[in-house]
Parts: sequence; structure tokens; C-alpha cells
Amino acid sequence: MAENRIVCTCMDVDYHTIRKAMVEHTARTVEEIQEITGAGMGCGCCIPEIEEILASVCGCTGTSLKEVVDAVNAGATTVEAVGEQTKAGTDCGRCKKLIENIIKNKR
Ligand code: FES
Ligand code: FES
Repeated sequence: MAENRIVCTCMDVDYHTIRKAMVEHTARTVEEIQEITGAGMGCGCCIPEIEEILASVCGCTGTSLKEVVDAVNAGATTVEAVGEQTKAGTDCGRCKKLIENIIKNKR
């Protein structure tokens, strides 16, 4: 399990809160993260890190959001199929809920 850490010191928002916004609220843009969590609403210096978090689906395998969305658009309709095509979710499994959300919303 990745260690939690504060991403936005201005608004005291941590990494897990941002990932949760992605999984539970389908947040995919900095604006959506700002709206849901408040992160990035102060000095703005955490925005590049928020962008990095948003762009990554699976830390274990280094699979990006784009790779997973491309696999879903190419017909992967299950977490297993996404794993076969991209390797995402095939190690610790922590990102599987996010992969499910991406499949459901196609984004
Ligand atoms: S550190 Fe996030 S807005 Fe300042
Ligand atoms: S983060 Fe571990 S398998 Fe995706």
C-alpha cells in the first residue's frame, strides 16, 4: 500500500483523498479535484503533482490513465481484460476499484 502523504499543504489534502475523488466521484481533471477536495485552491504549487496523480492509474506497473482508457475504448470491459492489455491491476490490486470506475465511465 502506498504511503499516504499530504499533497496540498495549503488546504491539507492528502494523496488518499485525491485517489478517492477519482474512484468515487470520477474526478479526472484538476478542476474536478479542486471542486471535490479543495486541493489546489490555495497557492497552486501542488497542481503539477495533482496532474501526475490524475495521469496515473497503477503505481505498481506504471500504467497511465490514457493507457487504461485506450484499452477500454478498444473493448476491454473487465478489470481482468484491462490487466491483460495494460498490466494495470496485476500486482497489489489496490488500483482495481479505479479501473472499474474507468470501465464504467469510459474515462
Ligand atoms: S499547496 Fe495546494 S494550493 Fe498551495
Ligand atoms: S497499484 Fe498495485 S496493481 Fe495497480
